[in-house]
Amino acid sequence: MLKKTKTLGYNGNYLGPVVELKKGKTVTIRTVNRLSEATTSHWHGLVVPSSVDGGPHQVVKAGETKVVKFKVKQNESTLWFHPHPMGKTAEQVYKGLAGLLYVKDEKTKETMLPQKYGENDIPLILQDRKVKNRNVLGYADVEKTDGALGDTLLVNGTINPYFNVKYSQLRVRLINGSNARNYVVKLSDGSSFKKIADDGGYISKPKNVKKIELSPGERIEVLVDFSKRKIGETVSFETNGVRVVNFKLKDKQGTNLSALAPKSGYEKPLKTLSTVNQKLTLFGMGKNVEINGKKFDETRIDIKAKQGETEIWEVYNKKDMMGGMTHPFHIHGVQFKVLERNGQKLDNQETGLKDTIAIKPDERVKIQMTFKEKGVFMYHCHILEHEENGMMGQLKVD
Ligand code: C2O
Ligand code: CU
Ligand code: CU
Repeated sequence: MLKKTKTLGYNGNYLGPVVELKKGKTVTIRTVNRLSEATTSHWHGLVVPSSVDGGPHQVVKAGETKVVKFKVKQNESTLWFHPHPMGKTAEQVYKGLAGLLYVKDEKTKETMLPQKYGENDIPLILQDRKVKNRNVLGYADVEKTDGALGDTLLVNGTINPYFNVKYSQLRVRLINGSNARNYVVKLSDGSSFKKIADDGGYISKPKNVKKIELSPGERIEVLVDFSKRKIGETVSFETNGVRVVNFKLKDKQGTNLSALAPKSGYEKPLKTLSTVNQKLTLFGMGKNVEINGKKFDETRIDIKAKQGETEIWEVYNKKDMMGGMTHPFHIHGVQFKVLERNGQKLDNQETGLKDTIAIKPDERVKIQMTFKEKGVFMYHCHILEHEENGMMGQLKVD
């Protein structure tokens, strides 16, 4: 008999349902905590007041219920949810607490993008886990100096999945739900595919790419074109030689790719400001991680901003003697545009809105955002163990 692994889930044993939210609608979500410890339900990427964002301050104690209500104001995008209780986020996510939030809006119909869930529109949640004797190890048994790293890739909770493709165009939503691992995803035959969306929604100019990079917390949507492949063929997504998913081509229904590009106009061109309002320095590894020389303190407000204001933040990943490491920087309650990486201007039509951005050692990134909602929001490294070791600060929007 194989030993079973204890997991956690939302409405099930592992992970959770895909929750669909409609732009313009008011939503009520009830979290019933049947765990034996406190948790929170954080809506990662959702632009809502901090009182309902499910950060570390919105604790749901064991056995209790919490109801939040908010209006969905943002555009179509792939967001996700996960717990965020102080000191327990990494462990609860590792055990399986995470789910997807799809924001849908009316404009989707115009885009002709694939949107039949499970048929031509599929999510792939990438998570690495440590497996020993065909058993996923518990969180306590995993080495986690810079975050829990596994040796086995789980995709939507499955090892070595395949998908029977029946349409000529497949929309794939990739989510890095890992505690600490970065992924570079390619097609096994090296061919290109089309990137159509970033964390916070569609990009105005979809781009053909041969690989995508995803750090913890980030999401990217792509279209894979099967129209020129033969029925019966198999091609896979791979990361570092490890198979993510096998696509088995069974049928080629549907339209051709050129008709599928989202119409422009999702994002207005940026009015680029030049003043940098905040400078943040990320530094450290292991337990010695900090932002601007400080560790998280829930009684301290690190940054203040005004509702409706647009700001530029410059975030710098300072190297150490060991060379440092990539930190995925995330802000709650806001979506931002990336203006520059190391002084290089980016074409803002080619990147969508983001809420999490990978910053490599010695890299300096400028982002621009408008604070639409009020409250105390977290910003932190999305390597979950770094966040728990204090790589987090608080932004108060009045
Ligand atoms: Cu994915 Cu503070 O969150
Ligand atoms: Cu978040
Ligand atoms: Cu980090």
